[in-house]
Amino acid sequence: MCGIIGYTGASPALSMVIDSLRKLEYRGYDSAGIALTGKAGEKLIVAKRAGKLSNLESALTSDHADSLSGIGHTRWATHGGPTDENAHPHISSDGKVAVIHNGIIENYIELKAELEKRGHKFSSQTDTESVAHLLSDEFNLSKDLADAMRKVCKRLRGSFTLLAISSDSPEVIVGARRNSPLVVGLGRGENFLASDVSAFIAHTKSALELGQDQVVQVSPDVVLVTDLDGKQVSAKPFEITWDAKAAERGGYTHFMLKEIFEQPKAISETLLGRFSNDSKVICSELASLNLDIDRILILACGTAYHAGLIGKYAIEQWSKIAVDVELASEFRYRKPFLTAKTLVITISQSGETMDTLMAARHAKELGAATLSICNTMGSSIARESDAVFYSHAGPEIAVASTKALLTQIVALKVIALYLAQNNKSLSSAQIAKIIAELLALPNKVEEILETVEPLRAMTRGFKDATSVLFLGRNVGYPAALEGALKLKELAYMHAEGFAGGELKHGPIALIEEGTPVIAILPPASSAISEKMLSNIQEVRARGANVIAIADASTPLDLKHVIRIPSCDELLQSILAIVPLQVFAYEMAVARGNDVDQPRNLAKSVTVE
Ligand code: G6P
Repeated sequence: MCGIIGYTGASPALSMVIDSLRKLEYRGYDSAGIALTGKAGEKLIVAKRAGKLSNLESALTSDHADSLSGIGHTRWATHGGPTDENAHPHISSDGKVAVIHNGIIENYIELKAELEKRGHKFSSQTDTESVAHLLSDEFNLSKDLADAMRKVCKRLRGSFTLLAISSDSPEVIVGARRNSPLVVGLGRGENFLASDVSAFIAHTKSALELGQDQVVQVSPDVVLVTDLDGKQVSAKPFEITWDAKAAERGGYTHFMLKEIFEQPKAISETLLGRFSNDSKVICSELASLNLDIDRILILACGTAYHAGLIGKYAIEQWSKIAVDVELASEFRYRKPFLTAKTLVITISQSGETMDTLMAARHAKELGAATLSICNTMGSSIARESDAVFYSHAGPEIAVASTKALLTQIVALKVIALYLAQNNKSLSSAQIAKIIAELLALPNKVEEILETVEPLRAMTRGFKDATSVLFLGRNVGYPAALEGALKLKELAYMHAEGFAGGELKHGPIALIEEGTPVIAILPPASSAISEKMLSNIQEVRARGANVIAIADASTPLDLKHVIRIPSCDELLQSILAIVPLQVFAYEMAVARGNDVDQPRNLAKSVTVE
């Protein structure tokens, strides 16, 4: 959740670290801090402030300017509120060691008691401060920061990415990780340690993945990785394909708006190389697993879970393989029944969501093969899966997921089609037709985005609503869930998604005069078209103000109709979700909310 950066090299560390923190602020934004080294033996320079990164920036003075190594942190509070004292870095009692942390140290209470007995004074309520004191005690004995870090890590329970610097070894930064992300950026005469690659892609595209329980020591020209026993290990190198410009806001007011508008390109990237000229579906990732699959289980959290719910319909209908979709947070604590014929698909934009990572491990332990749909190279879920289908959405910075979701759904359609091809459950002609439909999606999304202004104006008219309901059936149902989630995240409004058929089993009691109800209609040819039209009549009869999302095949006598291009029914949610994203975006703007960094949320939920 927290953003972490370490820099050592010839450029001024202050500006390098602050610049990276701007790229990482989406991970957590309730406080921020930095620590910089001076010349050997000189005091560490530390600054930290509650609130957004801009608060920290205003607190910086010019004496921070010429240091060459430093660490920086943007926080999403777990232990202790978002105050100046609880902001990271945490400093050892002797002032020599500074530590930043992402994750949770589960045994911090017993460590704190031990440290207090040894005379350490605590100045924060965090779990992290114990690590700073432990580390300095070890460092004072061995005079070797990496060695001290290895010893400390052995004593920690929980999850962590840790970075530490010491005033005694000004060019050195030491990092460690367990169940929490840490990547190394390899520059020329400079190196970076960060919670994700977006922190340094403006400077280098060469990176190293660190494994579980590894410790890394970097100085401007050296990177040394060891296990916790000090044995040197080799970390896996990778090249980052993301364009540094893609992580900038461009001319857009918000990252979210930019990412919504990037969706046509993102979908094209997901589909690139997936179909041969003779309409064969290519999915070497799944082929490499060489599995005889009789069941698929999809695991994910948040918006990615909705992608899974939508994917289920196409996989089952096209490939005739049974699919279950489960929240990763629920699955990881169950004793489910899996066999070697179960394919577990995890979906994660960040590749770092703790519950999804743990669910994937649980599935592996239970004997299933794991395929992940991931957007972030070098991420933990990608590294630990048996195979990875990269969604290629490019960096997604806004906390609320948009382009990552559409590409995840598209990836699932490709997988569904590949399985249907293998199982011969669809004919070549049927497959060719669906491929054509998939390839037409980018233009159709573009078409929706080109005519989005009336929708934005209409949305502003609903800004004082207290509750918005979303209705759908079939793939429109998970789309309704996603519409409601987006609105909650961004507009801080009560919003719920319902299956049309459930309306009379409770939700209809919520309808009052003027309640906005967004109904997602399937094409008129669908078996459920009339059912949805009846649902619309039922809520209108009770005063609802209905906004329908439909293609041109359904005539509608309503004040608010958002038309989307027509397409295969199973693909329609991809198009229907776009106006729902715009609705939530515009509502957040109209209500004066922080669109890219909504309150209480963080993009990468790397703690439970
Ligand atoms: C957080 C984000 C959501 C995201 C979810 C899962 O809640 O705010 O936008 O859908 O995590 O994240 P993942 O990185 O696993 O897709």
